[in-house]
Amino acid sequence: MNTLISTAYLLLFVLSSSYCDYPLTTKEVPLYIRQSWINVTEPHRTPCICETKVKPTSAYKSMMFTEIPNDPCLKCYYKCLSIKLNLMEATTGNFVEKEFLRQIEGVTPEIFKRCNEKLKCEVDLCKKCFGMYLCIVHSVLVPKSHPPIDKYH
Ligand SMILES: *[C@@H]1O[C@H](CO)[C@@H](O)[C@H](O)[C@H]1NC(C)=O
Repeated sequence: MNTLISTAYLLLFVLSSSYCDYPLTTKEVPLYIRQSWINVTEPHRTPCICETKVKPTSAYKSMMFTEIPNDPCLKCYYKCLSIKLNLMEATTGNFVEKEFLRQIEGVTPEIFKRCNEKLKCEVDLCKKCFGMYLCIVHSVLVPKSHPPIDKYH
């Protein structure tokens, strides 16, 4: 019985830590949402990669596979995208709800409100935009319905 309880705790620990680590193992962002994000950001991908010096694979994987590589330039890549898409006002650093709802698949007024609230005190705009991305990712996760076939491409 003790073994069962400690196994349960271990499982809980593993599950809760996997929530913070990437790649996500038990949940995923629905594919159509990821594809829509890729499509919307496409025109700005190359300019933002050049501007931030992020590794192109880091940029792509972070969005297509929700794998967040340890690349310090990645945070500023999300800032670059946010500014170019008018999701953030460059002068004030404020997020623009209307543009999130219009352009970013999966974002609802509730998700925007909660994530915006969470990030409103962040003064580093790279961290703020990256944090917004992660907050949205966690808001649209669903249990994985099939093996992660797309990992092998
Ligand atoms: C993304 O773009 C591709 C190619 O233009 C298109 O076939 C696909 O339907 C788009 N997906 C979404 C979710 O917008």
